[in-house]
Amino acid sequence: MRATRAEAWETLTEYTKSEALLRHALAVEASVGFYARLYGEDEEFWRATALLHDFDYEIHPTLDKHPQDGAPILRERGYPEELIDSVLSHAEHLEMPRDTQLKKVLFACDELSGFVHACGLVRPTGLDGLEPKSVKKKLKQPSFAAGVNRQDVHEGAEELGVELDDHIRFVTEAMRPIAGELGLRQSAD
Ligand SMILES: [Fe+2]
Ligand SMILES: [Fe+2]
Repeated sequence: MRATRAEAWETLTEYTKSEALLRHALAVEASVGFYARLYGEDEEFWRATALLHDFDYEIHPTLDKHPQDGAPILRERGYPEELIDSVLSHAEHLEMPRDTQLKKVLFACDELSGFVHACGLVRPTGLDGLEPKSVKKKLKQPSFAAGVNRQDVHEGAEELGVELDDHIRFVTEAMRPIAGELGLRQSAD
């Protein structure tokens, strides 16, 4: 079975009502979708996986439950094991090997999309004109978006084998078309 984006969105919104979490899901989806296109992979499947990676976070907000207790729900819904396995692998505490390109991309995009989002929120033009240089400068300020794990950001890009500058550029470019949905300001043009 092949998961569709529409099914994943339905499952996500059934379990997730928080706007912040939905925006996070959309930001990660956009980034993972960008990489699927870049690598010539199954974009719809990758997008569905990204949308669902934190689908149970609202009902399982602690790491003794998220995302492992979400997996049986996905299984019951008939999602393919490849999707469930990829969702599980984004959690460092489960210590699962990130042995596919999708797992590497998901992990690499998870924290960085949140960080780029935070960068966009404090700029009058949102993501427009946001350069990797200023994202990296903010990464070095521990108080900025303090919840974002810097080590995961660096490790994610490294595991993926993409230079951090390029990774930041890709994620920013991926999120720009949905800036409005993410609550970010956009320039007039
Ligand atoms: Fe998560
Ligand atoms: Fe996440």
